[in-house]
Parts: sequence; C-alpha cells; structure tokens
Amino acid sequence: MYHREIQTPRHLRVQLMMPLCLSAMLFSTTGIAADHDVATPAAGVIHAKMAYCQDCHGPSGQGYPGFSPIPRIGGQTIQYLEAQLKAFAESRRDANASTAMSSIHGPSEPMRAALAEHFSKLDPEPIADGPKELVAAGKKIYAEGVPTSNVPACSACHGPEAKGRAEIPGLAGQLYPYTVAQLEGWSTKRGNDLQNADMAAVMTPVAHAISHDQIAAVAAYLSYLK
Ligand code: HEC
Ligand code: HEC
Repeated sequence: MYHREIQTPRHLRVQLMMPLCLSAMLFSTTGIAADHDVATPAAGVIHAKMAYCQDCHGPSGQGYPGFSPIPRIGGQTIQYLEAQLKAFAESRRDANASTAMSSIHGPSEPMRAALAEHFSKLDPEPIADGPKELVAAGKKIYAEGVPTSNVPACSACHGPEAKGRAEIPGLAGQLYPYTVAQLEGWSTKRGNDLQNADMAAVMTPVAHAISHDQIAAVAAYLSYLK
C-alpha cells in the first residue's frame, strides 16, 4: 500500500489512501461558502430565474439528451451545484464554449445559492438513455475501478449509490452523452484558470486514466441508476 497526497494551491486538500482504490479523503472547503450574507433576491425574481434554467434543464431538472446534451441537475448536491455555477461565472469551466455559458450560468452569489437549493430538492426519474449492453461492465468499473490501468473505484468518492456528497457530485441518472463528453474532454472543460485550482483537479487523474470504452460502459450504467 502506498500513501499519496495531492495538494492544490487553494482551499483544497485531498488525501488518498490507495491499495486498490481510494479509501479515505479529507476535504476542507472554506473558500466555497464565502459571502453568504448578501441579501437573498425576492421570491418572484428567483422563480423567474428558475423558469429560465428549466427551459434548458427541464421542469424537474432531468436534463435533455441529444447532440449537445443538457445535464441533469435535479437532485444534485447543493454544494456541487453552487460550486459549478461559481466556476462558470469565474470562467474556470467551459472557457471554450464560453462567454455565453458563463453569462447564462453566472447569476449573483445569493441567486446561485437559491437556485442550487431549489434544484437539489428535485428528484427526477433517470432518462436511462445509455446502451443497455454496457451496463454490467459499467457497474463493475464503478464499484471496483480498473486496477490494471490505475482507474480508481468511482464509488470511493461518488458513493456506493452514486449520490455524491458535498462538492462531490451525484452521478446517478446523469445523461449518457453528457457523462461521456465530460470524461472525454475533462481537461479542456474544467479547471480552466490555472492560477486558481479547484475541485476539478481531483478528477483529472481519473479522467486521464479511464479509456474510451470504459467511459462508455460507466456512463451507460449511471444513466439507468435511480
Ligand atoms: C441555454 C440552455 C441553458 C440554460 C438557460 C441553463 N443551462 Fe445550465 N447547462 C447547460 C448546458 C449545455 C450545460 C453543460 C455544459 C457542459 O457541457 O459543461 C449546463 C450545465 C449546468 C450545470 C453543471 C452541471 C453538472 O453536472 O456539472 C449546472 C449546475 C447548471 N447548468 C445549472 C443551471 C442553472 C441553475 C441555470 C439557470 C440560471 C441554467 N443552468 C441555465 C445549458 C443551459
Ligand atoms: C478521488 C475522488 C474521485 C474519484 C475516485 C472519482 N471521482 Fe469523479 N469527481 C470527483 C470530484 C471532486 C468531482 C467534481 C469536480 C469538479 O468540481 O469539477 C468529480 C466529478 C465527476 C464527473 C462530472 C459530473 C458532472 O455532473 O459534471 C463525472 C462524470 C465523474 N466525476 C465520473 C467519475 C467516474 C466515472 C469515476 C470512476 C472511474 C470517478 N468519477 C471517480 C471525485 C472523484
């Protein structure tokens, strides 16, 4: 067994114990919950903004598959939703897809908090759009990783039921093409501000180790998971 410590410049500290998979982690995330004391927007303003988000993400935040998939955000953890909205607003995510995305996803901090809370409470049915024949292989990768190619068990961080915890997102029910696109393009899509490292760095080695076929399998499995 060896012990490895990954340390990123800011508020992140992740400790990984690995024999086969990652078994222990410690997060300290003081940077993320800052400035909560700004006034919360009026209910009507929040509702109008939600309707706008739902135009794309769906009425229950279930997402829409397709060529340019829109992710499921219903039932996601509050902390992850807030962190991603902040990452879009600060152009740390999707710098290529760009300014349009940053402005769509860049409301004020109190608005982001209200939207994150709203979407985290929804519980849409999974769209179940992945190739069925890959589900069994994906389930195994999710639970055990692929030790021969240094792919850790996803369950070690995302949880045995893929529900996530705090800044670690839930993956259950996520759309197949969205999960594939995120994992295939991880380093171009995330952590785009090199001076300001974020949680994306925790996933980078995983996204680099996992192969195209393994991504397809695990994404298929997740798309059916309630
Ligand atoms: C024009 C369509 C559109 C609108 C409007 C929109 N989104 Fe998105 N959203 C997307 C797309 C497309 C992505 C995926 C981006 C990518 O591929 O990284 C996304 C990604 C996200 C993510 C990241 C999800 C994840 O699992 O990492 C969150 C959170 C999110 N949107 C929340 C919102 C909220 C809240 C609103 C309303 C303020 C909103 N979106 C409005 C299209 C939209
Ligand atoms: C060491 C902990 C860790 C392990 C192991 C891990 N992840 Fe992650 N994963 C994370 C964190 C943290 C994030 C959030 C990154 C961010 O904020 O940008 C994440 C994000 C993701 C996302 C983006 C979700 C979204 O909604 O956009 C996907 C997809 C993902 N992981 C899949 C996997 C798969 C598949 C495996 C197993 C092969 C895995 N992860 C293993 C920590 C981990």
